[in-house]
Amino acid sequence: MAMQSVRQRFFFSIVKESEKRRFLSSQQIIDRDNKYGGVHFKPLPVVLSRGEGVYLWDTDGKKYLDFLAGFSTVSQGYSHPRLVKVMRDQAGKLAHTSRAFYSEPHGELGEYLTKLLGWDRFLPMNTGVEGGDTAVKLARRWGYRIKKVPSGKAAVIFANGNFWGRSLAALSASTDPNCYTDFGPYVPLFEKIPYNDPIALEQKFQENPNICAFMMEPIQGEAGVVVPTDGYLKRVRELCTKYNVLWIADEVQTGLCRTGTRLAIDHEGYRPDILILGKALSGGMYPVSGVLADDEIMLCLETGSHGSTFGGSPLGNRVALEAVKILEEENLAENAKKLGKILREELSKVPKDIATEFRGRGLLAGLVINKEFAEGWDICLKLRDAGLLTRPTHGQIIRISPPLTITEEQLREGINILTTVLKSYE
Ligand SMILES: Cc1ncc(COP(=O)(O)O)c(C=O)c1O
Repeated sequence: MAMQSVRQRFFFSIVKESEKRRFLSSQQIIDRDNKYGGVHFKPLPVVLSRGEGVYLWDTDGKKYLDFLAGFSTVSQGYSHPRLVKVMRDQAGKLAHTSRAFYSEPHGELGEYLTKLLGWDRFLPMNTGVEGGDTAVKLARRWGYRIKKVPSGKAAVIFANGNFWGRSLAALSASTDPNCYTDFGPYVPLFEKIPYNDPIALEQKFQENPNICAFMMEPIQGEAGVVVPTDGYLKRVRELCTKYNVLWIADEVQTGLCRTGTRLAIDHEGYRPDILILGKALSGGMYPVSGVLADDEIMLCLETGSHGSTFGGSPLGNRVALEAVKILEEENLAENAKKLGKILREELSKVPKDIATEFRGRGLLAGLVINKEFAEGWDICLKLRDAGLLTRPTHGQIIRISPPLTITEEQLREGINILTTVLKSYE
């Protein structure tokens, strides 16, 4: 063979590496991951390589129905052709500029979301936790500059069981020892009250005039799909207005059609002062989150007081715009509402000695498995073997949050696998 240039040799060595990689067994892939990766989640042992619609395939070609949607993110379904096209087109044109300059998709997404959802402005970030952090910063700024809270005294109230990510601020708000243990010192003046308890909320507001915000999820997702009683959101709105406190609704998980309405707050029809979106906002193609608020609040952040290298990139904005248009144009809120009823009807029939409770709204649901009956993790392993993917939360709650593009037939197929696996224990 003719003498190879250094570049050619480098190229061939890479090709050989990637060929080697292709022949790794799933166990070898898992072992390498476990050896070299940092630890956070404990993945279910299945190695996925492809997704289309509501289905996923592992490296051995086995097909699975997906009941997780990347933690309620892939609402538009895997590899949605419109999202793939937009991603390719925009990546080939202009992916990133940073907000050092203007680019068309930024204002386009802002205009679309504000007109669709009804706030003055949209501020894009990347992950859900950054959305939460941005909302708390906005609230503190508003507290000092508009409400006139004395310097250093602005307090924020959270509900027990909240989850809004893993940053130091988010874990300072957490009541879950798994999240916060040994990460202190924590952000001060984050106070916690029981969820779904307007009396406790009013008591806090009465005790402390320096509260700038109450941040909550209209349905607590990670806590195990905890749906508050009807009337709770109305009362939160009334109390926040009465005591001049901002209501922050964290709809990172519940937002954008998941619960059968465009937003989970639409179930009661009351409007928070700050809305946080993430996850389905970009359908899993690219991390995009953000907050919506009116001028009085949003303009408390001025140039230099907030920012992100990637937040608001042309690629992220274009993908998010298409992702939300898909949800709207394919009527996925309506689908979630219709199929959510079937899910409830069918899974409420599971005997109480197996599942103590079915919780949920739309296609955000949890089946609470009796601990005496079986371990949630073990059930998810059996579901995997039977061709259905999901994970438990808090050990015993089987999550059900499929892509919102799921059809009735596919949903029934999933329910059938789930109930058959549960019966196999008897
Ligand atoms: C309600 C809610 N807020 C915020 C987050 C954090 O989102 P991210 O993991 O993208 O930071 C989550 C994640 O599950 C969530 O459920």
